Amino acid sequence: PTGSTVAELAELLGVPASDIVKRLFLLGNPLTLTQSMSDELIELVADDLGREVKVMTKEEENSFTFYDDPADLLPRAPVVTVMGHVDHGKTSLLDAIRHTGVAEGEAGGITQAIGASQVKIGDRTITFIDTPGHETFTAMRARGAKVTDIVILIVAADDGVMPQTVESINHAKAAGVPIIVAVNKIDKPGANPDKVRQELTEYGIIPEEWGGQNMFVNISAKKKIGIDELLETVLLQADVLELKANPNTFASGNVLEAKLDRGRGSVATVLVTRGTLRIGDAIVAGMSYGRIRAMLDPKGRPVKEAKPSDPVEILGLQSVPAAGDEFRVFTEEREARSLAEQRALKARIEEQNRVKHVTLETLFSTM
Ligand code: GTP
Ligand code: MG
Repeated sequence: PTGSTVAELAELLGVPASDIVKRLFLLGNPLTLTQSMSDELIELVADDLGREVKVMTKEEENSFTFYDDPADLLPRAPVVTVMGHVDHGKTSLLDAIRHTGVAEGEAGGITQAIGASQVKIGDRTITFIDTPGHETFTAMRARGAKVTDIVILIVAADDGVMPQTVESINHAKAAGVPIIVAVNKIDKPGANPDKVRQELTEYGIIPEEWGGQNMFVNISAKKKIGIDELLETVLLQADVLELKANPNTFASGNVLEAKLDRGRGSVATVLVTRGTLRIGDAIVAGMSYGRIRAMLDPKGRPVKEAKPSDPVEILGLQSVPAAGDEFRVFTEEREARSLAEQRALKARIEEQNRVKHVTLETLFSTM
């Protein structure tokens, strides 16, 4: 494993520790038995001894424990992403579902970041992820599809299939996620829901009533028509998927968004995909690490734990992770820190190599 000490490596290779100390000395890296070695040094020494080793990160090692006994799996809420062309009504739909009023409060009416929310329908829960509708956020939408179980493709009935409708279809298909179509704005005079159905067949999105795979619901996010039917359709689709996860293990999942807050420091919205996340947990998210100081649910209320499919805002990371980063809990903060630091180091080396490369190329091109 990465970060092994001199003594550990000696035991692993079955050679006297003094041999390794000697070689380290000759390589210009005097270390004592209990000091840990860098990945490069481990490989170098092993090579020197005529052995080949592959240094695994803690993450790679731990990924072996990611297997869950089917008996430990419990049902979890579906995670749904609403996708569609700009202004087709993504935020309005989530508003209608949450009864909040986000779309009206937004600057310019354009969603700026991915938000997450949860709605309860009877004893069931649905987790929603909102995605920005701006063309430049294509990459972020792609990520939205990665953490999601179901995509609601929203298409305005007065506008029909547009470039980002097609992009959304491609993202959902690439992620292998089922698509439910919400034909929106049916309250508008020029609305033609059947034309939308017709247009979508060109992209392989065919209504069930026409013998296809996709469920369609006509809605008006503004007039709150068809919202209940849409939510029922989501639950129906979720039933088909039989979504499950093991809640009784260390948590892991993805960062949905993260920022530096003046008062609170690094704030990250994460989606738990496995295990239970708790206050006090040592975590790594991409290149940042820390101990969870506080957690807030989508309504901003403090919570002590988060289960699979729960989105939560977490405080306590030492730096700001990148959206889309994976996170996972470690038993020791020390381990979390060392993994985060290694990743940061690796990124720095890659960046340096990239810069060197560019400089050389620039050099040659001017010769
Ligand atoms: P971006 O985040 O910019 O991509 O937009 P969006 O897809 O979130 O659309 P948004 O919900 O902001 O709605 C765009 C406009 O359409 C707003 O003016 C809404 O009031 C309007 N709108 C949304 N749904 C409906 C609807 O069902 N009927 C009518 N008549 N207008 C709607
Ligand atoms: Mg929006």
